[in-house]
Amino acid sequence: MAELSEQTIEALFDESRTFPPPEEFRAGATVTSDEILRRAEEDPEGFWAEEAGRLAWRRKWDQVLDWSNPPFAKWFVGGKLNVTESCLDRHLESNGDKVAYYFEGEEGDTRTITYRELHAEVCRLGNGLRSLGVKKGDRVAIYMGMVPELPVALLACARLGAPHSVVFGGFSADSLRDRINDCDAKVLITCDGSRRNGSVVNLKAFADQALADTPSIESVVVLRRTGHDVPMVEGRDRWYHELVSDQSTECPAEEMDSEDILYLLYSSGTTGKPKGVVHTCGGYLTGCATTHRLVFDLKPEADVYWCGADIGWVTGHSYIVYGPLANGCTSVLFEGVPQYPDKDRFWDIVEKYKVTQLYIAPTTIRTMMKWGTEYPAKHDLSSLRVIGTVGEPINPEAWIWYHHNIGGDRCPVVDTWWQTETGAMMISPLPGVTTLKPGSATFPLPGVFADVVDESGNSVPLGGGGYLVLTRPWPSMLRTLWGDDERFIETYWTRFSDPSSGKWVYFAGDGAKRDKEGYYWLLGRVDDVMNVSGHRISTLEVESALVDHPAVAEAAVVGRADPTTGQAIAAFVTLRGTATGDDALLAELRQHVADKIGKIARPASIVFTPELPKTRSGKIMRRLLKDVSEQRQLGDVTTLANADVVQDIAERAKGVRAAED
Ligand code: PRX
Repeated sequence: MAELSEQTIEALFDESRTFPPPEEFRAGATVTSDEILRRAEEDPEGFWAEEAGRLAWRRKWDQVLDWSNPPFAKWFVGGKLNVTESCLDRHLESNGDKVAYYFEGEEGDTRTITYRELHAEVCRLGNGLRSLGVKKGDRVAIYMGMVPELPVALLACARLGAPHSVVFGGFSADSLRDRINDCDAKVLITCDGSRRNGSVVNLKAFADQALADTPSIESVVVLRRTGHDVPMVEGRDRWYHELVSDQSTECPAEEMDSEDILYLLYSSGTTGKPKGVVHTCGGYLTGCATTHRLVFDLKPEADVYWCGADIGWVTGHSYIVYGPLANGCTSVLFEGVPQYPDKDRFWDIVEKYKVTQLYIAPTTIRTMMKWGTEYPAKHDLSSLRVIGTVGEPINPEAWIWYHHNIGGDRCPVVDTWWQTETGAMMISPLPGVTTLKPGSATFPLPGVFADVVDESGNSVPLGGGGYLVLTRPWPSMLRTLWGDDERFIETYWTRFSDPSSGKWVYFAGDGAKRDKEGYYWLLGRVDDVMNVSGHRISTLEVESALVDHPAVAEAAVVGRADPTTGQAIAAFVTLRGTATGDDALLAELRQHVADKIGKIARPASIVFTPELPKTRSGKIMRRLLKDVSEQRQLGDVTTLANADVVQDIAERAKGVRAAED
């Protein structure tokens, strides 16, 4: 494939340049007309009901949507199902031997798991969990690496109707503990360790630290993955293989109401405390399955689909586990990272499994751009049909690079905007229909109603920017925050709703503009949430972790623009008493944040300063720190109580280099 140099990218990139679906693609695409969008716009409930009808229901619903008590929605009211019957059982008769997952381990070890095998494994673990006393409604925490037993664990919980709460394997012991305690999980499923970038992460050791202070946990199930010695606590810890060895491969599925909870997933918000986003069964699965099928132009009989996310995040829940399995498709499940053992690992996998759809984050694409085109060029990527991105805005240069070097100029790029809270994609191209513009997520999907509004909630005419909102309920929307209805209303439904006139509008927390043709261009978060490599991290959470260190008096954290990771965490710290801001303390503070939250939250840079810029009422002016971090002309400093301090910080910041990892 032709080398795409920086100059060529610039020449190719032109804001007005558009990419209609290529003729060859359209010829084979399932949806090629915008009729579906019109139909869904005219009758959204009819559209969603038709989609829900593709799932396996034990009892059909009586009412599609109950919005009589907003913002608490109920979808497919009265419907009964168990999502695992849609994801597994119904495929067995005609497709039992079809591959559900091609597992590719980090060290090159592989496993091929058919739908029948997956079903059996889920049943065995389901029975094992039942033997530990897990029943409908009990919460089960899951803290594992990317191994086949991870989707098995999610599905086994779903089989029993026990809401799972997956905690990303990169989170610290403290984060795991807080998430377990917030929902009083009864059981934890974990691994001895996980493999990452050539080394072993000792998950069980982190779990043990967390478990020192988790009174609700009765049992711990430990999968043997890395094989290193781990201490097992008598009476509490059980080996996974021992738990499932004598279990039956049939496990009756609990009958769930459409609105029963399927899972919780904690996500960072504007306060220091992560919130437990609640998803329910019927609507969530409808959202995942529909969008997965439409956005990837899925042909389950022929496709090998690969989402490179981790199941610890919502992308993995919706587009590695629930959506793909409901659609009966074959997926790749990859344990490792793009650079191990070499920088062509992803392309090696695409070639090896003849991957047809690839779904990754812009940050990965930008990293690969830095590595150069020789890595993808070594491999045959001609099996790819649709390539997607998620998690953060994709800059047009990265889009063009991806389209050309990975998609061979023939694969539509689907830039999908959504959130943990939305459960499924909301704004995205339909690859056989939508003319693409690099950097734009294009239009709301069928059955999704979005708008861009100003401060007072009025729709901004095309061509203008403002706040992104969703104006109608959708099936996969979060139902509440675990144990905190008030925060649910406050966070998402207060800013632009007008309950007195019956107007309920969901505020996503993102800025967006629409161009004259109505294309949506996402502008990033408008709250105190950072997006680092597609991961949501709250500035307050990092600040709390920093001030928790005995040497730190005060801390302010901002997300600074970064060419690879989207944003990088920039911290400003004042120290207590005689502590000195030297390299040793800097390293210690970064490690401290990693211990408190996880490595992903480590500040890239820390500036030590005797004072932070504050208003007269004592509020830290983060906006100015962002200007300093991004080396911009300083904004208005007139409201500051200590204006000269900003100049001093700007001088100090000049000498600070970002950490490399
Ligand atoms: O700011 C938006 C950004 O990621 C946030 C949601 O993060 P999370 O709940 O962790 O879910 C990530 C995976 C769905 C959003 O509020 N975001 C996500 N996708 C895009 C995006 N920003 C721009 N373009 C996208 N395609």
